[in-house]
Amino acid sequence: SRPGLILAVETSCDETSAAVVENGTIIRSNVVSSQIETHKRFGGVVPEIASRKHVESITLILDEAVRAANVRLSDLSAIAVTQGPGLVGSLLVGVVAAKALACSLQIPLIGVHHIAGHIYANRLVHELDYPLMALVVSGGHTELVHVPAPGVFRVIGQTRDDAAGEAYDKVARAMGLPYPGGPHVDRLAHEADEGVPMPRVWLEPDSYDFSFSGLKSAVLAILNQAKMRGDVIHPVRISKGFQDSVVEVLVEKAIRASKEFGAKQLLLAGGVAANKGLREALADRCGREGLPLLAPPLSLCTDNAAMIAAAAFLKWDRGETSPLDLKAEPLLSL
Ligand code: KG4
Ligand code: ZN
Repeated sequence: SRPGLILAVETSCDETSAAVVENGTIIRSNVVSSQIETHKRFGGVVPEIASRKHVESITLILDEAVRAANVRLSDLSAIAVTQGPGLVGSLLVGVVAAKALACSLQIPLIGVHHIAGHIYANRLVHELDYPLMALVVSGGHTELVHVPAPGVFRVIGQTRDDAAGEAYDKVARAMGLPYPGGPHVDRLAHEADEGVPMPRVWLEPDSYDFSFSGLKSAVLAILNQAKMRGDVIHPVRISKGFQDSVVEVLVEKAIRASKEFGAKQLLLAGGVAANKGLREALADRCGREGLPLLAPPLSLCTDNAAMIAAAAFLKWDRGETSPLDLKAEPLLSL
């Protein structure tokens, strides 16, 4: 494949990020500016504020990414950008910036699906072996994706209601933990010896879909009941019960899917891939099944532009570029 130096932009949610990646594998720079502090006091991402923050930061972040990479703009082969899915106002900021750069530098523009980015974050640190199965778990997504060949994606299962990270954040919020709550629930779960018993939602026997809203409601019911009775609430035991349920269902379905599709590797991706309980349980099961488990380091699990550049490289290498009238697509499918 040709050498390619790709500058990528990611603004789908509440991270403004730009990165320069060589050949889809070598990170020359990966600058991420998080808006978490801004959104924290609202208990979640406020779309309108997110777009404004992206507008404020995008040029600075782009400058910093180019400077840190120590490249000249004229060395760049292409500009990549997250086209969707995500918050439309946030996506637009990245798309407009990327178009302006591609246009002024007269190099190709490459639109990338956010989940393809999460999956290909793994390629920044691992050799991939196809066919592979990817478990994508984030604040907006819970998907099992069969990847038979490079850049080919088949969603075989997804959540029917809340995303795993979303359920984590809602449960955390109900227990008075700060946003985003996933890491806090994960930490508390590890302090408990035993969890409060919680349901497992498997859906139809052959389904690879997920559902986490019932589990979330179960936690809320436990909290409400305790409050009404004046009982002491045990966030540590509740966190463990909740996490055990989420992890067991994710692990079982991911392993079954990997076997059915003859996957040579199981890839973990998305913000919830940072979850210690999930990583431990998957590592254990994959070890026993003889299935190689790949996960990016924590810094590449959450939203960042290097993963978008990694996914864009596959397209660029095949000459697949996007027109300059590329639209931000909040509901883009993989
Ligand atoms: O991929 P990401 O940065 O943004 C989306 O595309 O959604 O994922 C953020 C999500 C949040 O819901 C956050 O609570 C969750 O990932 N998360 C975790 C952990 N670290 C981040 N959830 C559970 N355990 C963690 N350790
Ligand atoms: Zn994401």
